[in-house]
Amino acid sequence: MGAGKSIVGERVAEAIARPFVDLDRLIERRHGPIPKLFERGEHEFRRIEEGILAEALAGPESVIALGGGAVLSPLNRERLRARAFTVYLDVGVETAWERVRGSDRPLAQREADFRKLYESRQDVYAAAADAVAQDADDVLLASLGLRFGGALSPRAPVVIADARVLELHPAPVEAPVHTLPRGEAAKSLAIVERLWRELTIGREGTIVAFGGGSTTDVAGFVAATYLRGVPWIAVPTTLTGQVDAAIGGKTGINTAEGKNLAGAFHFPESVVIDPDLLATLPEKDRRGGLAEVVKTGLLSGRAVWELPEAEMIRACAAHKAGVVLSDPYETEGRRARLNLGHTFAHALEAGSGYRVAHGEAVALGLLAALRLSGQPTDAVEEILRPEPVEADLDTAWAALKRDKKGEGVFVLLEAPGKPVVTTVPDAEARAALVSLVRQ
Ligand SMILES: NC(=O)c1ccc[n+]([C@@H]2O[C@H](COP(=O)([O-])OP(=O)(O)OC[C@H]3O[C@@H](n4cnc5c(N)ncnc54)[C@H](O)[C@@H]3O)[C@@H](O)[C@H]2O)c1
Ligand SMILES: [Zn+2]
Repeated sequence: MGAGKSIVGERVAEAIARPFVDLDRLIERRHGPIPKLFERGEHEFRRIEEGILAEALAGPESVIALGGGAVLSPLNRERLRARAFTVYLDVGVETAWERVRGSDRPLAQREADFRKLYESRQDVYAAAADAVAQDADDVLLASLGLRFGGALSPRAPVVIADARVLELHPAPVEAPVHTLPRGEAAKSLAIVERLWRELTIGREGTIVAFGGGSTTDVAGFVAATYLRGVPWIAVPTTLTGQVDAAIGGKTGINTAEGKNLAGAFHFPESVVIDPDLLATLPEKDRRGGLAEVVKTGLLSGRAVWELPEAEMIRACAAHKAGVVLSDPYETEGRRARLNLGHTFAHALEAGSGYRVAHGEAVALGLLAALRLSGQPTDAVEEILRPEPVEADLDTAWAALKRDKKGEGVFVLLEAPGKPVVTTVPDAEARAALVSLVRQ
């Protein structure tokens, strides 16, 4: 009661594009006002609540706000365990009481009783919940297994780590370590084969990936394929990894024909994010990550880049978690919006023979996307300061046309926070590309 579950529930539902069901509202619509129902006895109310929760759980995937007493029923708890990811929204008794005092809620008439009720329910809530949250971002993060801090205790772990990262930081868990060449060089079939040969864990073993996006991509792919799939945990050590690459279950390697051409969806059991690991990150890698941060800010309509670093990372990670949960396997077109600026970026990377770094290319890609959208470019220009790069125009144009998002289809912005997937005439797209290349 008073935790804000209707507001948080609605926000989560919107972020993951699923319907929102407020159980109490649904009960009232069918059976009349809850205070009136309580007059017939709490037992009768709980019986009705059990029936309606069972119905909601059997319906299409949705976000359900439960009344504060719903988890008192063992039957409800059992059904939740079987069908739902359950989050305890805990704002503390003070805040909760401030919000409900003076309302007509039958169980919130006297402060002393309310406090006693809150206390008495803590154990049941803790037992029923898969996670505890304070706000909508917490719910999104927890739903995808993303967490900030906390101990790491996987079963039978083995660590796959970037060589440079290991020089700078202790491995996140005590276990045998397999070291990868630093950065992108690790994303090769030769490295995957080496790991397939070297690994000795069984199906119950867990791979812990410790490094940037290159490490989580390749270690995640090894986890997807070794013994037809073993669990894995991502511990990203770059800004790009913490706001983007380690989130969303896409794993893979490069082939001679291009980047990320072999891979699999294989969601990590958890992603453990520690912004302190970024203290050693070289400036150019930080700037690369910042391009994805600005992208996220444009997509979410929130100036996330103005937040202190740890909060900025949390906001970006939660945004990506929401989009991923709305379309986990990229079958509904919703994940495509994360490619804002990326069609141009990939073209510039290809056109420069991959000499232009991804982040630099994304900064330019965002500029082009904003120009084509008729949206202000000041945030991108002030924070990322993109400059035209050297690239072969014809190669870049061919790459753009070939881009896997389909011919002429781009992610643009109707307004900050309102991405649209739309077509752009060739002439306009080409002119936008030309403006990104040094003449
Ligand atoms: N799977 C996805 O959804 C997804 C999304 C975005 C990007 N990616 C992939 O991620 C890769 C890029 O990842 P990245 O930008 O994180 O870089 P990276 O993993 O290639 O690492 C870049 C450099 O930073 C070093 N490094 C890493 N952590 C460090 C630290 N804490 N301190 C000092 N040095 C550190 C590495 O040794 C390396 O030299 C690309 O291959 C890209 O395709 C994947
Ligand atoms: Zn990117």
